[in-house]
Amino acid sequence: MLSQIRSTGDQLRWAVDQPAPAIGTSSEILYVGMGGSGIAGDYVGAIAMPFGTRMVVHKGYGPLPLWATKARPLVIAASYSGNTEETLDFVESARDSGLRVATITTGGRLGELTVTHDWPSVSVPSGLQPRAAAGYMIGAALTVLRGAHAIDDQRLALDEAATMADEATAEGSDRWMEATRIAEKLDGRIPIIYAGGPVSTVVAQRWKTQINENAKVPAWWSLLPELDHNEITGWETMPEKTREHLGIVTLRDRSDNDRIETRLAHTRTLTQDAVPWVAEVNSTGVSRLARLVSLTAVGDLVSWMMADSAGVDPVPVATIEKLKKLLAEED
Ligand code: F6R
Repeated sequence: MLSQIRSTGDQLRWAVDQPAPAIGTSSEILYVGMGGSGIAGDYVGAIAMPFGTRMVVHKGYGPLPLWATKARPLVIAASYSGNTEETLDFVESARDSGLRVATITTGGRLGELTVTHDWPSVSVPSGLQPRAAAGYMIGAALTVLRGAHAIDDQRLALDEAATMADEATAEGSDRWMEATRIAEKLDGRIPIIYAGGPVSTVVAQRWKTQINENAKVPAWWSLLPELDHNEITGWETMPEKTREHLGIVTLRDRSDNDRIETRLAHTRTLTQDAVPWVAEVNSTGVSRLARLVSLTAVGDLVSWMMADSAGVDPVPVATIEKLKKLLAEED
């Protein structure tokens, strides 16, 4: 898993040379994908935002939402394996409604549908765990959006992000040491990731899922300012338990609204007797992509370090596979 995490830089560099499929112009995108494939849509949605592109990320089955039958967005179906049933179900519903479809996959059933319907597609290299192929999936989604004239050329950003991923994941780097400190503090605790801006909230979700799938530990993410209107009261009645078992990590980026900093400070003051605030991780870099990757690298490393220190193999996701098998048996 560590070498897969460390391949993120090369994965992003791969995308620099990908030809953009000819799709026609679209500023309305409906991206469908689950898990590691779905989150690539969240990342790319955060990048597309400043271009005035509206990108809705759908994580689930069809049918197509009614707004989409009216707005007629470009549908991007992303599945690393090509065999995820929710994604296949949704893309068939998009096809039945006559929407334009583009795909991102290594093959599988989605690959077959792509060939049958002659859909524009970016084919990504196979052989990784989907969640560890995030660099490919993000790079491929950027390539599709470029083909749809929904964003500008991201090659400089891809280069910047790739260098950042390489530097961050090198043993002993500043980010490596930061991750080591955080993993140590989270040892034996259930992590909760707080974030409050377009870049940081996307990565908060990635931290949670990487900790789930690599360290096999429960984790949650919550967003500011919303959590100040509900979750903040949840720390009131069980301080002995929550203090012992939970830990908060905050993610920050310069796109956070100025009030987020003030809110975080007060939220911390009001809750720190009930839960340790373990660390604040700040993004670095110029482009949105690089800033996303800078926060992601630390989370990926933390999830791997938590697995390593607990003697857990981070690669297999046995329970996900078991569930997929159970569902297939019910078909
Ligand atoms: C496993 C992982 C999962 C998958 C998800 C969807 O490493 O990350 O979250 O991404 O089960 O599968 P794909 O990506 O093949 O559509």
